[in-house]
Amino acid sequence: VAESVLIIGGGIIGLSCAWEAVKRGYRVTIVEKEAFGGQASGAAAGMLAPFSENPDGPDPFFQLCLDSHRVYPDWVREVEECSDFSVELCSTGSLNVALHESDLLPIQTRLLWQRKYGAACEWLGAAELRRLEPRLSPQAKGALYSPVEGHVYAPKLVQSLAVACRRAGVKLIPYAGNIERMDIGMASGPSVSMNAIGRITADRIVICTGAWSGMLEEWLPLSIPVHPIRGQICSYAARANDVQHMIFSSQAYWVGKKDGSLVCGASEDVAGFERTVTERGVERLTRWSGRLFPSLQDVRPQRSWAGLRPATRDGWPLIGPVPGSPEIILAAGHYRNGILLSPITATRVGDLLEGRTKLNGTVDLNAFDPGRFTSIAGQLR
Ligand code: GLY
Repeated sequence: VAESVLIIGGGIIGLSCAWEAVKRGYRVTIVEKEAFGGQASGAAAGMLAPFSENPDGPDPFFQLCLDSHRVYPDWVREVEECSDFSVELCSTGSLNVALHESDLLPIQTRLLWQRKYGAACEWLGAAELRRLEPRLSPQAKGALYSPVEGHVYAPKLVQSLAVACRRAGVKLIPYAGNIERMDIGMASGPSVSMNAIGRITADRIVICTGAWSGMLEEWLPLSIPVHPIRGQICSYAARANDVQHMIFSSQAYWVGKKDGSLVCGASEDVAGFERTVTERGVERLTRWSGRLFPSLQDVRPQRSWAGLRPATRDGWPLIGPVPGSPEIILAAGHYRNGILLSPITATRVGDLLEGRTKLNGTVDLNAFDPGRFTSIAGQLR
């Protein structure tokens, strides 16, 4: 009988790991406290933007994003084929717009180092920018064009993965409730008890609980500094054609979706596990929308929502085994890039399940070691 794997958390990371594990021959169950994709994954704008999201330098996190971005089109094609679902992958390219003189230096610094990493990016002056994006404010000084960036429709990707998982034989359990306890190091294998479904035992457990991951510290010999950062986001009805590319400014971004909506995000609020949208948050997004696109001045968004990004203390995810307990694997804390990082995370988790510690590619995986925040004193707790 194949080894059993229990995935805790039914967001994009959990579903991607479940799908990878079932394809590698494991018996897979995935439990989600509420609905699949009901948290950050379902709220995301779905941007696949390794260059725009990493302006500072070619660190291991950038490399991880880049490696995931490279495999994304093939991975999406496979998910779509296995689910008969379109996830609306759009390769629009992106424009990082300099609205003020002070925006120029960070953008041009990015241009210098990212060119070496396949960004194929180029600087566009004001006239050329207006030719590409006629509705942008005439105040825009220019933009960095990154032709390889794009986006998916994140809620559809989650649904599509859930269908692919089900068809491949994964047992999906939604509305499992909160985790009441976790037991590791038992002869019968690790187990988790959830208040709506009781106790589940498996040979291995993969923890993909996003912003809620810090709560598992109670049962694991490790420090998990993951906390929620709320992203408020809104969308304008029938305005997708206002933009031809994904647009980033220093304060917000805009993504035109195939359903005709123009999505604008997102705040980064410290608000605990509160998922409400605030008047102030939406007002800030609409103000910036009006500044970048004069045609959106005085237009009210049709819809607004919020999700909780899982932020870690150093901004990088936790991907790897729990020190001293290789039967427990963490895949959490992807912060702003969970949608982009799902294929590479799933591959890494699949490799770990198979006992392979090296990942093809350029990434220094020690950077994402879940044990990196755990002091010796903490381990002796
Ligand atoms: N990746 C965009 C965001 O987190 O808002």
